[in-house]
Amino acid sequence: MKIIIAKNYEEASKQAAEIVLEVVKKKPDATLGLATGTTPLKLYEELCEDYQKNQTSWKDIKSYNLDEYVGLAPDHPQSYHKFMNDHLFSHIDIKDENTHVPSGLGDPEDVCDKYNKMLEENPRDLQILGIGSNGHIGFNEPGTDFDSVTHLMPLKESTILDNAHLFFNDDIDAVPKASITMGIKNIMDAKEILVMAFGTRKQKVVKKLIDGEITNEYPVTILNKHPNVTLIVDEEAGALIK
Ligand code: F6R
Repeated sequence: MKIIIAKNYEEASKQAAEIVLEVVKKKPDATLGLATGTTPLKLYEELCEDYQKNQTSWKDIKSYNLDEYVGLAPDHPQSYHKFMNDHLFSHIDIKDENTHVPSGLGDPEDVCDKYNKMLEENPRDLQILGIGSNGHIGFNEPGTDFDSVTHLMPLKESTILDNAHLFFNDDIDAVPKASITMGIKNIMDAKEILVMAFGTRKQKVVKKLIDGEITNEYPVTILNKHPNVTLIVDEEAGALIK
């Protein structure tokens, strides 16, 4: 694993943007796996800024998002569909039909099967990941099988608490209790993985990842088995790395 400890969130996001743009420029029809949450916000800002300044084209790029909350329609203010439109898709020339986020509506089994089939037919060239403070990747909570594919995942209390700040008035009751998420096998199928973690809240989980013991109590530790991973942290999240 290549490890980059950047001074702060801004510097880290700039470096992350360079990695993403290298893929987009080298392979204009690349397939990307995308994440939501606070971690990639500044990265997406950098990518939008690059599009404004340099018109790097995304017109043949395909994207597959990691996850969506069960029960939220695409236009719900906290849905990951809307997050992606607001923070990236509406600012670049990616085609609507080339972007994919699992559906929060419909029969979950059916949604998972269809999404999974698409993932199998469209291997990701680069997967972007954040890390939950409990070690989840996508919404694969602690205990998830490493060979899991797209599935319905009840969210742990710690994840609901972590994400409440994104909902109106920090309302824990408004946070959906389940998600549809790419499985760990789908994530590991990507050719390259860029994983990011920022802030003191992520120190412990970053240390678990670096220590190298692979356990599904911390799903992120499986990345130690992937041949092409770059981890970017800021000084706060990397404080326990020797
Ligand atoms: C988001 C996702 C999650 C987040 C993780 C970290 O699509 O799959 O695994 O990356 O919960 O969230 P933030 O970035 O908000 O700390």
